[in-house]
Amino acid sequence: MMPPSTSRRLAAWSAASIATWPALAAATELGAHHALHAAGPQAQHIAHLWDLMLAVCGVVFAAVLVALLYAMWRSRRAEELPATPDLSSLDSEESPLLRSVVWATGISTVLLVALIAASIYTDRALARLPVQDAVHIEVTAHQWWWEARYDNEDLSKVFTTANELHVPVGKPVILSLKADDVIHSFWVPNLAGKKDLIPGRSATLKLRADHAGVYRGQCAEFCGYQHALMAFSVVADEPQAYTAWLAAQEQPAKEPQDKTTQRGKQVFMRGNCAMCHAIQGTDALAMHAPDLTHIASRKSLAAGTLQNNEDNLRRWIIDPNGVKPGANMPPTQLPEEDLRALVAYLRSLT
Ligand code: CUA
Repeated sequence: MMPPSTSRRLAAWSAASIATWPALAAATELGAHHALHAAGPQAQHIAHLWDLMLAVCGVVFAAVLVALLYAMWRSRRAEELPATPDLSSLDSEESPLLRSVVWATGISTVLLVALIAASIYTDRALARLPVQDAVHIEVTAHQWWWEARYDNEDLSKVFTTANELHVPVGKPVILSLKADDVIHSFWVPNLAGKKDLIPGRSATLKLRADHAGVYRGQCAEFCGYQHALMAFSVVADEPQAYTAWLAAQEQPAKEPQDKTTQRGKQVFMRGNCAMCHAIQGTDALAMHAPDLTHIASRKSLAAGTLQNNEDNLRRWIIDPNGVKPGANMPPTQLPEEDLRALVAYLRSLT
């Protein structure tokens, strides 16, 4: 037996954990992250399947425990047993023991088949999401960030962003998923189930957000050192807000308006930055790293690792590996004036 103080502490700790868990889940920087708080039909189907499995498995577990306790209570004490064991019941064809085993096997089989049927039904329901007029986004996973390309028939309106997807409320979205290096997995629990991104292959995930909000996504397949810091957010906007966001993202980057930001742009173009990043409307067009055309409009830096503010941007530029060990971005050493100008320029790219 556990000493009473330990068990009381354990109970208090469990109660505290259970009480703070939803609060923690709701309070993350990148939005809600909860598979059972469905914000769309796909996550709803999965949550229903979970509820059913939890109920069935819970009842079976309780029944097994009751049977076990009953058997323990009924069994005779050692001192009551006769010297020679009574094996007569084994010879009778219809022993109560045999009957119980047949019943238990039958019930287990029926329940397992029912759960398989429910899984197949859920899978079918997920595939049935209507996708007329769907928004099409191509998502590519990299170690350790997400690239999102918004398709458009008008090629001049195609744009690329990183680590933050916007989707319109009530409209289906088709995501084409690709990986650039190793296997990753795209998972926004409030909106849909997981889908792997495999190098050399293309996968598709369909989802719809029915409630406006910000939902946190996370890479769900171990992909190296910073797998845990490979997050993103999906912002479900009301149609008007979505159209406004789209219109802003389709624009090239804002031209710097003052001396500091003009100097910042020069620092960007002549330094290391332009060798990997793109800023549309400028000479920086490299695609090895996140597109920074509208970096100031995003909530986070480094794939959900840092809140997007001035101090963190500066920290990220100077020492990426201090923030995210193993990140492919090299550190940038700049005179203080240049660094301040560069940060000001990037902060102006809304
Ligand atoms: Cu990407 Cu884990």
